Amino acid sequence: MNNAVKTIGVLTSGGDAPGMNAAIRAVVRTSISNGLNVKGIRRGYAGLLEEDIVDMNNLAVSDIIQTGGTILYTARCREFKKEEYQKMGADICRKHGIDGVVVIGGDGSFNGASKLAENGINTIGVPGTIDLDIACTEYTIGFDTAINTAMEAIDKLRDTSESHERCSIVEVMGRTAGHIALWTGIASGAEYILTAEKFHGDIQRIISKVQDRRRLGKKNHIIVNAEGVGNSNEMAKLIELATGIETRATILGHIQRGGNPTCKDRVYASAMGAKAVELLCEGKTNRVVGYHHGEFLDFDIQEALAMEKNLDPYLFHITRKLTTR
Ligand code: ADP
Ligand code: F6P
Repeated sequence: MNNAVKTIGVLTSGGDAPGMNAAIRAVVRTSISNGLNVKGIRRGYAGLLEEDIVDMNNLAVSDIIQTGGTILYTARCREFKKEEYQKMGADICRKHGIDGVVVIGGDGSFNGASKLAENGINTIGVPGTIDLDIACTEYTIGFDTAINTAMEAIDKLRDTSESHERCSIVEVMGRTAGHIALWTGIASGAEYILTAEKFHGDIQRIISKVQDRRRLGKKNHIIVNAEGVGNSNEMAKLIELATGIETRATILGHIQRGGNPTCKDRVYASAMGAKAVELLCEGKTNRVVGYHHGEFLDFDIQEALAMEKNLDPYLFHITRKLTTR
């Protein structure tokens, strides 16, 4: 095969996500089967600037497809937003013979990838974030595992809320995006789903709904709250005060980022990692892999970053009916 690149570097950046290891494994194994060398850049752009770079082979990625986290570690690196460090990053790649880089991360990481590309290193982004907040793709690595983790936690909360006849506010992650809240809210039959995109602070509507459902005989109430909407503990106090129903807030936090990836996360992450290497072999750069209408595609990074992602309108529409009084 006449590849456009000879040595691929792979890094993970930003928040970790279950399935990143499956993507790393796919990058390493696809590279090697295409006759390329492959190096792991540890701790994202921070590790690149510190030249924390290791040779990878097929054995180095054995038995990782089923594990959460990232064997390459991840980090956030403020310096990399500055031009001088971006140039330095590209020079370090050249020094180590790396002429193509796969960046597994979110929007922020793709900005960094684009800067590497501007500085002459062929670079491809792979969407890795539990938040599903990347507009060019219907799938991001880790979202499926995270929503299953959150859903199972909410099922457990439902049991104890029912026993105590309580109301539960469950805060899920998502940064400023409500996808995790919407999906887990629907899947767990929540009475109310609060997302930053759609909730405008009308706590009285929540209180009225809880009161109505209690009058109808419901003994527990689950409210899923996306982080970024408001303070779950404060909301719990307000609801308890207004309804007289004991209300507890539970913040699920970083458990949503860990755990063994689901089958979907393992398979899609593998496909996206392999696709990134194929794109580099074709000489492409400044692209990001996406999944759209049943196909793994690639998009220009700038165009992808400029796209806007909304909550799925149909899913949002049905929540009104499914969480009915
Ligand atoms: P995510 O990739 O999950 O969106 P962040 O927004 O924290 O996570 O970005 C991860 C890293 O990507 C940052 O710590 C920084 O190193 C790099 N990065 C983010 N924005 C830029 C930018 N505008 N230019 C260059 N690098 C960036
Ligand atoms: O982007 C993934 C994510 O888990 C968000 O959902 C959350 O807002 C953020 O990262 C938390 O970041 P940190 O790990 O720095 O607390």
